[in-house]
Amino acid sequence: MGEFILKTKIYTGENSCDKIHEFTIEKAFIFCDPFMLKSRKTDLIVSRLNEMNAQYQIFADVVPDPDMRVIQKGLNQFNKFCPDTVFALGGGSAIDTAKAVVHLYTMMHQISRPQMIAIPTTSGTGSEVTSFAVISDHDAGTKYPLVDAAMIPDAVFLDPMLTATVPPAITADTGMDVLTHALEAFVSIKANDFTDAMAEKAMRTVWDYLERCVTDGGDLAAREHMHNASCMAGAAFNEASLGICHSMAHALGAQFHLPHGRCNAMLLPIIIEYNAGLILQEGNDALLRYLEIARLLGISAGTNQASVYALVRQIRELMRRIGIPAHLSELNIEKEKYINAIDHMTESALKDRCTVTNPRIPKAEHIKQMYMKLYG
Ligand SMILES: NC(=O)c1ccc[n+]([C@@H]2O[C@H](COP(=O)([O-])OP(=O)(O)OC[C@H]3O[C@@H](n4cnc5c(N)ncnc54)[C@H](O)[C@@H]3O)[C@@H](O)[C@H]2O)c1
Ligand SMILES: [Fe+2]
Repeated sequence: MGEFILKTKIYTGENSCDKIHEFTIEKAFIFCDPFMLKSRKTDLIVSRLNEMNAQYQIFADVVPDPDMRVIQKGLNQFNKFCPDTVFALGGGSAIDTAKAVVHLYTMMHQISRPQMIAIPTTSGTGSEVTSFAVISDHDAGTKYPLVDAAMIPDAVFLDPMLTATVPPAITADTGMDVLTHALEAFVSIKANDFTDAMAEKAMRTVWDYLERCVTDGGDLAAREHMHNASCMAGAAFNEASLGICHSMAHALGAQFHLPHGRCNAMLLPIIIEYNAGLILQEGNDALLRYLEIARLLGISAGTNQASVYALVRQIRELMRRIGIPAHLSELNIEKEKYINAIDHMTESALKDRCTVTNPRIPKAEHIKQMYMKLYG
């Protein structure tokens, strides 16, 4: 049995935010991080709210990888204002903070939620169309998701202009998050024709446009394609879910404070090799699905296995060109500290909800070996 629901109204392209006028808004609450306020990206919303004579408040304390502290702080301010509309302006961290605050607010007061409008400024998480909000627990070194379809925003504005200021390293990391969402959704045991359609288009788009966005942040045509791809990959994984690349990335990112997309990118080639049975061999159920991906991206070699190897090689090549290291040893992570963390990260990864939809059921030993391989 399959399912595909796309609840969010999606507005695309430059100036799409003009459509804010079409919404009935009297009291709006805006979530963003300090950079959005300082660089006056909030003006995009505020100017329209002023034209509509709507009241507003801004919560500009969002931090990367939000934890309960920032969510509680947002909730305190939110409770005093009781808005009818919520704007989330920023990357996944701002959108997830908004979702979590609104979720807690509606649960506390037992009321229907205010309308939610997401305006992503990174092309990465797809959080604007998903029922997830990822919360970090920095003390415990883990991340866990809040999951509720009621958190899916009502509308999203995908304005590529907003992403033009994203620096190359963050463009690369978040773009690889999109590729990972699409690939994991495609090989997920919950994939169906509808999620495949979204995932396929997202993969091909990343393949064609990510490097252009990294090389020239002002390339708005490429930025627009990547922004749409991020949203499509979100729609795919919202139904198909993800896999152990995300499970392992959540644990790694929470433990060593590395960007989410970068963790996924560095793990992705190893996970493909594992899921396709190219390493730690035990079965190769997903080999044919990866072969489909390779063909979609125009990659082929002699045998099925050789084609999937070529796919892995080309993903590594892309990473090298956009400046993402292949191994953790290239980052400032002490080897002993890393090895000591592997047991804890493995435990978290196995418990992560993304693990159950992975095409190959991993053993703890396999996860540990893959974490070792990642160090290099
Ligand atoms: N809810 C979901 O479905 C979902 C899916 C995947 C990941 N996540 C979570 O989302 C978070 C990561 O989100 P992200 O990758 O978008 O990064 P982010 O929101 O943490 O932003 C990363 C950095 O980019 C900066 N930035 C954002 N937009 C910018 C712009 N236009 N110009 C310049 N700088 C800009 C931010 O200020 C921040 O410093 C993590 O917590 C991750 O676990 C959520
Ligand atoms: Fe992700």
